[in-house]
Amino acid sequence: ADPDPLLDFCIADLSSSPSFSSFPCKPASNVTSKDFFFDGLMKEGNTSNIFGSKVTPGNVFTFPALNMLGLSMNRVDLAPNGMNPPHSHPRSSESGVVITGKVLVGFVTTGNVYYSKVLLPGQMFAIPRGLVHFQKNVGDKKAEIITAFNSQNPGVVNLSTTLFDTQPSIPDHVLTQTFQVDSSIVHSIESKFGS
Ligand code: GLV
Ligand code: MN
Repeated sequence: ADPDPLLDFCIADLSSSPSFSSFPCKPASNVTSKDFFFDGLMKEGNTSNIFGSKVTPGNVFTFPALNMLGLSMNRVDLAPNGMNPPHSHPRSSESGVVITGKVLVGFVTTGNVYYSKVLLPGQMFAIPRGLVHFQKNVGDKKAEIITAFNSQNPGVVNLSTTLFDTQPSIPDHVLTQTFQVDSSIVHSIESKFGS
């Protein structure tokens, strides 16, 4: 979890720069009920993209009341066959519950053991901090998951973009050597991810 707060609350003032572990507080005299409620997860995310998935974050950046609380949540929408592709969270473990649909959830340990299960609505999963994981809709209808984190800002390292969509690009010779393939394959993968 993130460091323990010393105050009841500290609504993030996102216009100031964050310190190492939090944002400065909005002045208490300006805080109202509105600050403690967030409607952002009500709406279905737009899954029209190559993965057929959308993660809508409820973290300190979208819901500033989470500042200093050491927690956050996401909504994950998956079109039929859609996938939230393999990624990890450097600052947080993750739990989640399937709300609708049929979802394959998998993760891999530091010892390269793969754990997975197909979940139905109401079933939960746990992903230990920092481990690579994914969710894939294996049903024939839309799927929705709500995820929860013990960090106000879990961070995301997406495996495909962290290697194939960086600015500037990682040199070809590094990627061809990493995957033991020739550069045409590296270029073909890079071309799928935008830049
Ligand atoms: C799902 O893995 C999420 O990060 O919300
Ligand atoms: Mn995740």
